[in-house]
Amino acid sequence: MKGIILAGGTGSRLYPMTLAVNKQLLPIYNKPLIYYPLSLLIDSGLNDILLISTPAALPNFAKLLGDGSHLGIKLSYAAQAHPDGIAQALLIARDFLAGDSACLILGDNIFMALSAVNKVRQASHNLSGALIFACQVQDPARYGVLAFDGAGQVTDIIEKPKLPPSPWAVTGLYCYDASAVERAAQLRPSARGELEITDLNLSYLHSHNLQVHCLPRGSAWLDAGTPGSLLDAADYIRVLETRQGQLYGSPELSAYQQGFIKRTQLLTLGQAQSGTAYGQMLVEIAQERG
Ligand code: TTP
Repeated sequence: MKGIILAGGTGSRLYPMTLAVNKQLLPIYNKPLIYYPLSLLIDSGLNDILLISTPAALPNFAKLLGDGSHLGIKLSYAAQAHPDGIAQALLIARDFLAGDSACLILGDNIFMALSAVNKVRQASHNLSGALIFACQVQDPARYGVLAFDGAGQVTDIIEKPKLPPSPWAVTGLYCYDASAVERAAQLRPSARGELEITDLNLSYLHSHNLQVHCLPRGSAWLDAGTPGSLLDAADYIRVLETRQGQLYGSPELSAYQQGFIKRTQLLTLGQAQSGTAYGQMLVEIAQERG
């Protein structure tokens, strides 16, 4: 299984902050937003990752993350010329995937969900069909929402429903088998002109090949699409990190924990940023575990 991070979009709800800077490069407390989805993929054991963004933002992502070798991973880049929908990511990634399965994550989604990481890891070894992740939210009408039958089976996914059939929103984390590219190629743009990820998920549902993992209580799923949610996410990370003395969403730490880099490499990465609490924490972790 290969990883895909979709980090383009217009970020119009964050104007003027995103007029000159891509949303996923904005800070969430002490690190760029893109670090969080990247860490989730690394935590899940994936080490071959494609980052898709706008032509304007790609050079900045390359400046930040390079070819991934400092993290012991392979990072490639591809452009999405226009934000024509999330499902387009699979088409852009066709050559990169070369028939492999995919874990797609949206660049502005932050997860604190060990069960999701474990599920992605399992799926990376063996996946037939699609596995999507749902989270209970208070305002489901903003998302794709699951409908269930009396036996708790998913019967439908409704995009931005006026009357949500449940509080379970589909999150921006999806695992697909190799048929996803061909399925995405069959999709037609929706009324808003996008290739909808909900339509791709419905294609799996209709062929009885869709699994849904509902995130358990105690998990967190945040998206940082508005000024308020950006600030909430930053506060959340700040509280967790300062209270617990832990790092969340650190690709360096994830790479170390996965064995993609050695302790000495983590130390070097931390020392290069040792003027910050973030870098200092990496140094401490590398020294502690030595
Ligand atoms: P959205 O938040 O739906 O869109 P946006 O980021 O352009 O923001 P706004 O609505 O404020 O204009 O996108 C969710 C995530 O998916 C985000 O990380 C951007 C990404 N995305 C793309 O990269 N390309 C696309 O075509 C779409 C629809 C989204």
